[in-house]
Amino acid sequence: MGRSGPGRIIALVVSVGITLAVSAILYYWFREAAFLGNDYQSTFEPASDNAEKVQSVYVLVFWLAGAVFVGVMALTLAFALMFREQEGAEAVQSHGNSRLEILWTFIPVVIVVAMAVPTFDAIVELEGDAPEGALEVEVVGHQWWFEFRYGDEGIVTATDLHIPVDRAVHLTLLSGNYQADGSFKDNDVIHSFWVPRLMGKKDIMPGHENHLWFTPSETGTFLGQCAEFCGLSHAKMRFRVIVHTQEEYDAWVAAQQTAPAAPTDEQLAAGQEAFTAAGCIGCHAVEGVSSGLVGPNLTHVGSRSAIAGGWLENTPADLESWIRKPSSVKPGSHMPDGLVDGLSQEQVDALVAYLQSLK
Ligand code: CUA
Repeated sequence: MGRSGPGRIIALVVSVGITLAVSAILYYWFREAAFLGNDYQSTFEPASDNAEKVQSVYVLVFWLAGAVFVGVMALTLAFALMFREQEGAEAVQSHGNSRLEILWTFIPVVIVVAMAVPTFDAIVELEGDAPEGALEVEVVGHQWWFEFRYGDEGIVTATDLHIPVDRAVHLTLLSGNYQADGSFKDNDVIHSFWVPRLMGKKDIMPGHENHLWFTPSETGTFLGQCAEFCGLSHAKMRFRVIVHTQEEYDAWVAAQQTAPAAPTDEQLAAGQEAFTAAGCIGCHAVEGVSSGLVGPNLTHVGSRSAIAGGWLENTPADLESWIRKPSSVKPGSHMPDGLVDGLSQEQVDALVAYLQSLK
């Protein structure tokens, strides 16, 4: 039998203390690490009702699993110390203890039920229909950028998803390309929509419609990312969800519904000509200028926070590097290299200025 008296208690206290200390260090270390260097792409700071729900299940499971971990480790250490080999002590064989066996069957059942009920509850709610009056947006996955189509508002944009705060948004996830006759072709690969602070991950499948909804609870910019390997530049398939106040959102919608102004000076006019000369019109739409459907709609590209599928900031220098040699920015990009090689520097400058003027 084990040692008796103060030795046993000291052993127990020391082992519980060590286990708690190590657990606490690991907990704070992982918690801090989750916020470092990833631009707030953290599920630990939910900013929507559904992300909050996922987080609540996660936290519950974390603490239950943490309690099991601490308990098992503490007992393991304590027993190792209490029942270690000692002079004069003899090993005792024991067999069967109904009370213990019932106890260690009952406790795990309680824990599993405590995790299962809120988990199923969350799944049912998240997979259920979006609330009435939700904003409807189609998300179309492309190699390697996200397209956002607001059917009711008649807006087609890319990379920046604008939504109002405190209103549910219902996303229909598609992979492929709309055709000139309005039909949809499933000619892309599997992607996954993920905004860690808001919602996801959910696959975007060719030939299958997926759905996702959430109600953002705070304004701000939330970074999203394709979360399913989809080819060479998968890691560069990003997007941003910009959650506005209702007034800001209404203003954004109004601006997007307004056709861009015609070129107001010589340089912008030359830029618009270069847009045609370089062949951009074959793949990109600009309202009143071109109707290409392969690449992002550029009608209001100047108003976007980022370009190249969220990989580059929307600055003249970044835009120029992108159109000069797309493959150096995003390997495998469907936009070919050499499009503007036949243009003078002046013409490229004009093209960049023209695109940036499309607000
Ligand atoms: Cu799209 Cu990974």
